[in-house]
Amino acid sequence: MIFYFSGTGNSLQAAKSIAEHNDEKLISIAAAINSNVDSYEYNLEDNEVIGFVYPIYAWAPPRMVLQFIERLKLSNYNNNYVFSVATCGENIGNTMKVLDASLKKKNLKLDSGFSIKMPNNYVIIGNVDSKEAEAQKLSAAEETLKHINKVIEGKGKGIFEIEKGFAPGILTSVINPLFNKNAVDTKKFYANESCNSCGICEKVCNCENIKVDEKPVWGTNCTQCLGCLHLCPVNAIQYGKGTEKKGRYKNPNIGIHEYYQ
Ligand SMILES: Cc1cc2nc3c(=O)[nH]c(=O)nc-3n(C[C@H](O)[C@H](O)[C@H](O)COP(=O)(O)O)c2cc1C
Repeated sequence: MIFYFSGTGNSLQAAKSIAEHNDEKLISIAAAINSNVDSYEYNLEDNEVIGFVYPIYAWAPPRMVLQFIERLKLSNYNNNYVFSVATCGENIGNTMKVLDASLKKKNLKLDSGFSIKMPNNYVIIGNVDSKEAEAQKLSAAEETLKHINKVIEGKGKGIFEIEKGFAPGILTSVINPLFNKNAVDTKKFYANESCNSCGICEKVCNCENIKVDEKPVWGTNCTQCLGCLHLCPVNAIQYGKGTEKKGRYKNPNIGIHEYYQ
């Protein structure tokens, strides 16, 4: 049972590869949360593996992933193998510690964890990777995924192959709360004159937070996955003044319909 969250397809590519290789079900965390139920209940089969695959947002898992785990109810759990894969542009800080702590509250134990460097989609500060770096990261990610699939198939325990970066404690314990408090804000999103009201941003929004009448209008519930901005077919969606000149990224292995909520 592979639970995934993804804004621009990197984590979905990883989750799909793991699900296919291990013949596991793929479950969208965003779709579960948008179903507005009190708890997310799943029945485990014997020996079924449990995986969490998601992007890194400011050196921690997206809030939606942690909210999902808080309300997760797994029946028939019998020390099933639990792993986590975080996709990132560069590094993940102490993300695995954060995930492990949230799983512990549900009496689940994180057996192994991995990070995979994939193309960067955070264009609010910085920019997307060059086309060369993007291609290089995607091909290296395929190799890393083959290796991760072998570890998961063998239910390898205590294997933490992660790029933490410099001063991971500060990144995750200091910067991440500041990011969640100050940076996750929808007021700066807008669509410029290129917008043709196609409605794709509304369909792909992980938080069901966008309504398109003539132009998209954002509500307040956002996790800043940037799916709306990157998946807009005419690059109309902007965040503040800085993104007009920035690049856009969407994982080339994922079709647009796979993002629809
Ligand atoms: C809000 C936000 C914050 C991010 N923070 C980090 C970070 O702290 N470290 C990092 O290496 N990449 C960071 N990234 C890049 C993404 O983690 C990376 O591109 C990821 O593979 C995107 O996955 P997705 O395509 O499944 O959405 C950030 C991206 C966003 C949108």
